[in-house]
Parts: sequence; C-alpha cells; structure tokens
Amino acid sequence: MTTASSPGFFAGLLNPANRADPYPLYDRMREHGPVRLGGGPVVVLTSYRDCATVLRHPAAVVDRRHAALPLGPTPTHDLAGERAAELAGTHSFLFRDAPDHTRLRRLVAKAFTPAVVRAMAPRITAIADAALDRAAERGRLDVVADLAYPLPITVICELLGVPVEDEPRLRAWSSMLARTLDPVSGTAVTGRPDPAELVRANNEVHEYFELLARARRRRPGDDLLSALIAAEESGDALTHDELIATCGLLLIAGHETTVNLIANATLALLGHRHHLAILRTAGAFAGPVIEETLRYDPPVQLVPRIARDAISLPDIEIASGDMIVMLLAAANRDPEMFDDPGRFDPARENRHLAFGLGQHFCLGAPLARLEADIALTRFARRVREPRLTGQPPYREHVTLRGPSAIPLSYKEILPANADS
Ligand code: HEM
Repeated sequence: MTTASSPGFFAGLLNPANRADPYPLYDRMREHGPVRLGGGPVVVLTSYRDCATVLRHPAAVVDRRHAALPLGPTPTHDLAGERAAELAGTHSFLFRDAPDHTRLRRLVAKAFTPAVVRAMAPRITAIADAALDRAAERGRLDVVADLAYPLPITVICELLGVPVEDEPRLRAWSSMLARTLDPVSGTAVTGRPDPAELVRANNEVHEYFELLARARRRRPGDDLLSALIAAEESGDALTHDELIATCGLLLIAGHETTVNLIANATLALLGHRHHLAILRTAGAFAGPVIEETLRYDPPVQLVPRIARDAISLPDIEIASGDMIVMLLAAANRDPEMFDDPGRFDPARENRHLAFGLGQHFCLGAPLARLEADIALTRFARRVREPRLTGQPPYREHVTLRGPSAIPLSYKEILPANADS
C-alpha cells in the first residue's frame, strides 16, 4: 500500500518515448499502488478494483467545476465572461452529471439501440469493401489511412447527417480536439498542442455545426442532427448549445476511438497470425478478438473523474475536489483480475473496462463493436498474406492510443465478392 508522491510516473505517461509500449510503465505503476502526484490534488488509480469502484461511485463526478484546481484548457478556456460560463455549463454530456447528463444521454441513446445499430451493418460492409477496393486499385495498403480511419468517420458523418464532402475538414478538427482529452494537454507542461490551435478548432467545429443545424432546421433529413433538432423544438429537451456540444461529442467519440480499435486489433492479429488465420475462415471469431483487443490494448487508455465528496479506497483517501485519473489500460492488465494479463488470448473470459462502467458507460459500444467486426472480417478475408513493412509509428495522444500508420505488404487484395 502506498500513497507516496511519484512524479516520475506522470512524466513517463506524457513521454512520447513510451507511446509505442506504455504497458511496462503501467505495470510498475500498478505494483506501486495508487499515486498522489506531487502530494497535490491529482490521484492516479491503476488497479481493476479501484477503477471499477470509482467508475460506479456516486461521489465521482465529471463536471470540472467541482475540481479544486482548474483543469487544463477546456475548449472554452479563452472565452471571457458570461459566454464562457454558459458554455462551460453546456459542455458535452460526457462532462455533465445528473440530471442534465441523464436527460441528454436519453435523447441520444435512441440512435444507438441494438436494432438501429444492426440495421447499419450492410452500409458499414459497403464502406469497408469500398475502402479495400480503393487500396487494391492503388496497389498499396496502410490499414490506418485506408480502412481504420475512413470507415468510422464516414459512418458517424452519415449518422449525424454531415455531407460527405465535408468529412476531411471534420477529420482535422476532430484529431485536434481529441487532444483536449489528454491530461494537461495544451498547457505549459506539454507545450503541445498549441492552446490557440485547440480553441480555433473548437470554434470552427462549433460554427460548422451551427450552420449545418440551420440547414437541417430548414430541410430536416433522416439523420441524428435532424432528430435532435426536433427534440429541441418540441420543448426544453435540449438547448441549442447542448445540441451543438452533442454533435461535437459524437464526432470525436464516434470515430477517434474506433479508428484505434480497428488499428490495435489489426496489429494484434498481425502479431498473432494463427488468430488471423482463424478469423479468415470463421467470421464469428471477430467478436472475441475485439473484446481481447479492448482489454489488451484499449483505444481509451484513461478516464478522469472529480471527487465531489471524499472517497475512501483501501489504499488511499481521496479528498473532495481531487482529480482522479483512472488508467483503464493498466486495470485491464491487472493480474488480480486476469490470468497472464500480458498474453493476447481471445478465448479468455473478458470483463474489461475499455468502455468504462456505470452512468457514463460508452453509448456507442454496440456501434464500435459492429464497425470493428466488419472491418476486421473483411480485412482477414480479402487481404492475403499481409505483413508489416516496419514498426508502426504511434499518434501523440495519451488518452486515445493507436498507431498513426500500419503500412503493409501483401500478396493480393481479393475482390469484395470473392467469398460470396
Ligand atoms: C472502440 C471504440 C470506443 C471506445 C473504446 C470508447 C470508450 C468510451 C469510454 C471509456 C467512455 C466512458 C468515458 C468516461 O467514463 O468518462 C465512453 C463514453 C462515450 N462514448 Fe465511447 N468509445 C468508443 C466508441 C464510441 C462510438 C462509436 C460512439 C458514438 C458513435 C461513442 C460515444 C460515446 C459517448 C456519447 C460517450 C459518453 C457517454 C456518457 O457520458 O454518458 N463511443 N466511450
């Protein structure tokens, strides 16, 4: 048991040199126990037991206004006065507590019912096949650029009602805004990314969805944005700022994460080729591969909370106002919970924390699972003898972990209908 300050760990977390394989560092942190950084108001939890307890704890909230210290830059941090306060209060529902969280989540949840998600399968398959067709024509395949990235962004744009020609702009914004999820991003601690760039990206996304909402108000479509506008217009279900914040949340949550799931699973399969061989013939194997990737190399490595009241854990006392960082990726390799946790084993029983737990449990989990299932199955069936051509580089993000490229050599990419 320890609550000792251990700043070296946090520096390790932020150090780009650890991005390719942060797991030895996570193991050391878990063995050390809960850490209070520099004796200050930030606590890092790494065991499965502690993370699962706090994720479900009623005093562990997400509204940053409960924090003892101002936390990093929010996208609104350079706005002055009333507007800043107003927007801080209407941050996306990922950062809001009940009752606002419950109200907003309920509205959006309708778009992610199992039936709605299942109905998307044929379209997702068509998008994945078209992506592989383009790579086949070019004669080159980078799994990130050619499959893992375009698939989820096309799906979330279609779901939201974003015109296909606007996708490239949204990609750039969303990659930048995903950095706001990193601890101390855009501050003097990391120096990156430039806070001014973060604010600019946030403002541009905001303006973009304002304009799109105006267009959908005039001519509603068969999309989530039009459905949310109808909810806004039918009473006080959500305000205009909440509508815009919800679109931004879905854009980032809906694809930055799923890109990494498809990419991390592809890398795991390339490193465990017998599993790739099984997947080629048994499509149902994709489910276990995806769950094991979510445990073994999760796209979301950590989630934050703020203690609204004191929380007592077996090895640490958390004070009211403390910020709590839960390293889900460390909890997912806790030997108290998983046998031989460093082994990639799709056959294991898998109660990972990759989608969180409790009230903020990932709303898009069924969609993410379906997209990854289709992408991996199409990849395994169509791409013959894929091999890595080098060590994949990793993205700079700390919270969202995944490679920025997976360039491959291969024997051939079979036509989409080869297995029908
Ligand atoms: C592999 C892909 C994904 C992973 C690993 C993932 C992970 C997570 C995690 C860990 C949380 C909880 C955050 C917290 O407790 O603070 C979360 C929340 C959320 N996710 Fe996902 N996510 C993924 C895909 C998606 C997709 C595809 C969508 C939507 C299209 C989505 C929408 C959301 C939303 C709206 C929330 C906020 C829920 C709330 O606050 O009630 N996610 N996600």
